[in-house]
Amino acid sequence: MAGNRTFTMIKPDAVAAGNTGAITKMIEEAGFRIIAMKKAKLSAELAGKFYEIHKERPFYGELCAYMSSGAIVPMILEKDDAVEDFRKLIGATDPKKAAPGTIRALFAKSIDANAIHGSDSDDNAALEGNFFFSQFERF
Ligand code: RTP
Ligand code: MG
Repeated sequence: MAGNRTFTMIKPDAVAAGNTGAITKMIEEAGFRIIAMKKAKLSAELAGKFYEIHKERPFYGELCAYMSSGAIVPMILEKDDAVEDFRKLIGATDPKKAAPGTIRALFAKSIDANAIHGSDSDDNAALEGNFFFSQFERF
């Protein structure tokens, strides 16, 4: 059965562009409840740990540099079928391929600066949420 939680992070390009509020509004209007949320900045080392699954991919270095280049807004979200429904709400990785009306179609600048992260499985959602939030930071 699909789980009811996912993890997301508004990426540095979208935070710097002042789109945190607009994106959070879309997330809530799509029926997701915010369980945990904060503004933070990753060191290159922590970004490397977060994206360790992509270590062998050619864009890993750039991805870690970019993700530690400015503030981010991580969140844990709750909704039925959270992982799948949230991936639909954010759209394809490459904003040129993202469906109209999705968060990436509206706010992403490029495949690298693509506005938002969404977990790709229930297991990763739990791991990624635990990476950023302790038990007492969840509501
Ligand atoms: P995310 O993990 O951030 O939600 O993105 P995703 O699942 O749609 O894409 P994923 O394959 O997990 O890649 C993680 C992030 O790496 C950057 N990327 N660049 N240059 C490239 O070909 C490339 N491919 C991926 C993107 O910023 C992507 O979100
Ligand atoms: Mg991914």
